[in-house]
Amino acid sequence: MKDLTPRKEDLNPIEIASRDEISALQLERMKWSLRHAYDNVPFYRQSFEKAGVHPDDLKTLSDLSKFPFTVKQDLRDNYPFGMFAVPREQVARIHASSGTTGQPTVVGYTANDLNIWGEVVARSLRASGLCPGDLLHNAYGYGLFTGGLGIHLGADSLGLTTVPISGGMTQRQVRLIEDFRPKGITVTPSYALSILDEYAAQGLDPRESPLEVGIFGAEPWTNAMRLEIEQAFDMHAVDIYGLSEVMGPGVANECVETKDGLHIWEDHFFPEIINPTTGEPVADGEEGELVFTSLTKEAFPIIRYRTRDLTRLLPGTARSMRRMEKITGRSDDMIILRGVNVFPTQIEEQLMTIDALAPHFQIELSRPDRMDQMRVLTEAAADTVSEDGRTAAARELSAKIKSTVGISVKVTVADPGGVARSQGKAVRIIDNRPKT
Ligand code: DLL
Repeated sequence: MKDLTPRKEDLNPIEIASRDEISALQLERMKWSLRHAYDNVPFYRQSFEKAGVHPDDLKTLSDLSKFPFTVKQDLRDNYPFGMFAVPREQVARIHASSGTTGQPTVVGYTANDLNIWGEVVARSLRASGLCPGDLLHNAYGYGLFTGGLGIHLGADSLGLTTVPISGGMTQRQVRLIEDFRPKGITVTPSYALSILDEYAAQGLDPRESPLEVGIFGAEPWTNAMRLEIEQAFDMHAVDIYGLSEVMGPGVANECVETKDGLHIWEDHFFPEIINPTTGEPVADGEEGELVFTSLTKEAFPIIRYRTRDLTRLLPGTARSMRRMEKITGRSDDMIILRGVNVFPTQIEEQLMTIDALAPHFQIELSRPDRMDQMRVLTEAAADTVSEDGRTAAARELSAKIKSTVGISVKVTVADPGGVARSQGKAVRIIDNRPKT
């Protein structure tokens, strides 16, 4: 793999500014953001008043903990445009979550917000090793989902040549990668695996592909998966994080030279980690739920938004801005199986250690006799894995899950291609338990 470390002189100076400088900027911007939300969004005025706080009460960054949280339900209650802080005419772009689990969540951006989004995504792409003039294959979905168009904005802002292919039509993805010879690919890690399958189906060697870096996010993935993808394509794999409510992709990104967690672009998004049960902030280094406050957003300011994503904050390394560790999972995706908390990423980690198994999996939950049961559905790495080899691999995976996670699970090893493939975010959990 080539060294793709960006040149220091190409970074935005704030990325390597002193902590004091960053904190001073954050405080000034946080005051503005609280005031902007309070003055222009009735929801925030009411929620601050109910909690007995006023924007003027913020004297230091830690005073933020006096302010109330915002949760997804608040956005739903104000559907569609009730959380906007500017007249609708000044909103240049709207995005929305898919809304498969309820009402969609709608977010908006002014022209200035779009510029800032472009800047933070450009920073993310540069941190991943891309430079002006490089070619990018953007396979995140275009549309209301923020992935495709968010990356596109940043690619324009950095000066890349963008191929806006979006998700799907996997044969064509491979064809265009081979014909156009992109240096980078932006895609969910699970769809990257589908593209990898297609290389094999076409009899092509992915290690010979032109790709030098993949920028993967929108769903949890492990360091074990990183190694798998890096080896398969002979390229770097870095993590990009974001969520629509806070902006979209580009809230945080790993640096290609360190790959040690994602630097949060803290001059625009202020992170906190809280204890998800008590709501109390915890110290840097401790695990908990990630909470974000936007510092510069005009159309859709967001104050102390509970992401449900679990991680911890770590000090800066390649950049001065703090890092978040790879996300373990969302609290909504945490399975509690007979009293033990389990995340799909823990299953992924074990699965990746077994050569006879492919890196595809789904978790099926059922309740046959009032006891919850979990089945891991995965598949053989190749047609050549014998029946005995599959049985042994299933047994090995089940034993590894038992010893590391502490739960008993059934493992089914299907034929290659037997696990449903994703073209965007993977569906990891199929819950067949009766609804209570
Ligand atoms: O997934 C934005 C995005 C697009 C990020 C492309 C990165 C790349 P939403 O659809 O609103 O936005 O989903 C946000 O996805 O709260 C996390 O649970 C999850 N997520 C996003 N990035 C990562 C990541 C986009 N790198 C939700 N690791 C978030 C783990 C991630 N989970």
